[in-house]
Amino acid sequence: MGISSAESITSVLQETRTFPPPAEFTAAAHINSEAQYQDLWERAKDDPNGFWGEMAAGLHWFKKWDKVLDGKMPDAKWFVGGRTNVSYNCLDRHLTTWRKNKAAIIWEGEPGDTRVLTYQDLHREVCKFANVLKKLGIKTGDRVTLYMPMIPELAIAMLACTRIGAPHSIIFGGFSADAVAERNNDAQAKLVVTADGGWRRGKEIELKNSVDASLEKSPTVENVVVVRRTGSPIVMEPGRDYWWHDLMHEASADCDAAELDSEHPLFILYTSGSTGKPKGVLHTTAGYLLGTMLTSKWVFDLKDEDTYWCTADIGWVTGHSYIIYGPLANGATTLMYEGAPNWPHDGRFWEIIEKYKVNIFYTAPTAIRAFVKWGDEWPNKFDLTSLRLLGTVGEPINPEAWMWYHHVIGGGRCPIVDTWWQTETGAIMISPLPGVTTTKPGSCTKPLPGVVPDIVTKSGESLPANAGGLLVMTQPWPSMLRTLYGDHERYVRTYFSEIAGCYFAGDGARRDADGYYWIMGRVDDVLNVAGHRLSTMEIESALVSHPRVAEAAVVGFPHDLKGEGICCFVTLTGSDGDDQMKQELKDHVRKQIGALATPDMIRFSNALPKTRSGKIMRRLLRDIAAGREKTGDTTTLEDYTVLATLRASEE
Ligand code: PRX
Repeated sequence: MGISSAESITSVLQETRTFPPPAEFTAAAHINSEAQYQDLWERAKDDPNGFWGEMAAGLHWFKKWDKVLDGKMPDAKWFVGGRTNVSYNCLDRHLTTWRKNKAAIIWEGEPGDTRVLTYQDLHREVCKFANVLKKLGIKTGDRVTLYMPMIPELAIAMLACTRIGAPHSIIFGGFSADAVAERNNDAQAKLVVTADGGWRRGKEIELKNSVDASLEKSPTVENVVVVRRTGSPIVMEPGRDYWWHDLMHEASADCDAAELDSEHPLFILYTSGSTGKPKGVLHTTAGYLLGTMLTSKWVFDLKDEDTYWCTADIGWVTGHSYIIYGPLANGATTLMYEGAPNWPHDGRFWEIIEKYKVNIFYTAPTAIRAFVKWGDEWPNKFDLTSLRLLGTVGEPINPEAWMWYHHVIGGGRCPIVDTWWQTETGAIMISPLPGVTTTKPGSCTKPLPGVVPDIVTKSGESLPANAGGLLVMTQPWPSMLRTLYGDHERYVRTYFSEIAGCYFAGDGARRDADGYYWIMGRVDDVLNVAGHRLSTMEIESALVSHPRVAEAAVVGFPHDLKGEGICCFVTLTGSDGDDQMKQELKDHVRKQIGALATPDMIRFSNALPKTRSGKIMRRLLRDIAAGREKTGDTTTLEDYTVLATLRASEE
């Protein structure tokens, strides 16, 4: 959805419903008045050093920082000279309190198996795996790829990496072998941790087989550790591959947390950009930890009694920040579910909520739209009265889905936090505070303390209320990315060159007269498919790597469930395309990138609309893909007959 997408602006303009927080919620909330919010926000804006210094006192420091904030964007450094450790903050410091035997992770596998790890349990496993990493020669600073299902060992591996200061790079299990190889190579990973497989909708995702294929193209990887999850036969290469359980069996449970610099690299997470290969977003230790810890507490109003469930996959940033680091830093109980929402039935999520008496539930609009489609009878079968707060993330939520979430899942009593943020921001930036903010369906409302956004024109002028423009950040914040791994120049160019002095997020938005933000979607050629960013360029290169494809252009189109679907316009060499060819190309993209990038629509055309200078006019293709009769301005189009041909191309 581009910034010029008029529908989204019109539909949100008509939204006038407001929902103040219930009084009982406010009475018990961590932040509980507009005045308190305003005070925090103003203080953070006017005196970032004082504000963040005060907030950082909530972390454990081996050595206190010398300076809170040093430098400006793009190279701002936080808590300079301080020494801390993420796994120490998420685990060790709870062990001297009553939380020692509190459930840290409640886990449910897709087949229905369950495990509960207390903070003490998790600490022991993390220390052991940290020793395993050391034994395999992993040192502070070495990169470790985690390509795993949603099982407790993933959390253990993440925290073990942070314990010794080895940045992890988690690759979503839906990515293909080629995508894993590309990321291994970019990060120059030394070790891959994986599993034989994982469960998804009753089927096995064969992770180890993909790793084996990826290693043919990833020379830096020396060893592979494999968790036995599904028990399927796999090939273990002697001297390279080890079973997790064998190594853990011998490992000591004693491992001091490394005293790491505040700015020590914590993890790399690959995300899509509009050009070139995936971007290795790099987060560092103290700022990220502080950002995720505070926002978990403020936005989810986390309390010790809560059972909190974020349904994201840990392969995405939401899982990093709001299944693992934020909740555990707060000593919370975080629920982790391995599988699909519709397995073995369409009510699985609601069954889990009833079973564990979940209090806080955080999911994505794409999931909510699927729930709506599956019917109210599913949530209605289960007792959801334990819920007290609901959240969404990943894309704009359409007001009707918001209303459904509010009524059918929240029983009309739960505030909804629509949280805007990105892989790059590390933590939630714009969101309601559930005890304070009167919500408006479809708006992510107001910036959190420490976040100073603006809506500007391309030349950087601030826009008045209700004018759509570019969403930027005018001040640095602790959990922001520090670089793109191995390519600082690309980092500066991507995020800081568009609008002078500001971080440009890539989203279009407007701010209404009450100061509420309404996100209008990405302004670049990045699709948002089911809440995940996919680069059109990567899908195009995958298509063009097929011997029959001469040229390809990929655009998004409105999709009922996924938000945006993937439409590919393809010019073939040789004979005309048919249905079999369409299927072949879909399979080809799936193999190259992964199932999440599988095209929804392939349309063959012997030419693509281009400007005189040869640039593909994507906005025209977007109009055609969306079935709009009339396309926008075509004056720069080189060959008008192309449009008619494209329209005639069948889905
Ligand atoms: O376009 C925005 C959309 O998702 C993008 C960030 O994607 P990613 O880095 O994959 O992280 C997703 C999870 C944090 C943003 O640039 N987005 C995310 N949250 C929202 C949103 N759009 C509207 N409303 C949101 N709440």
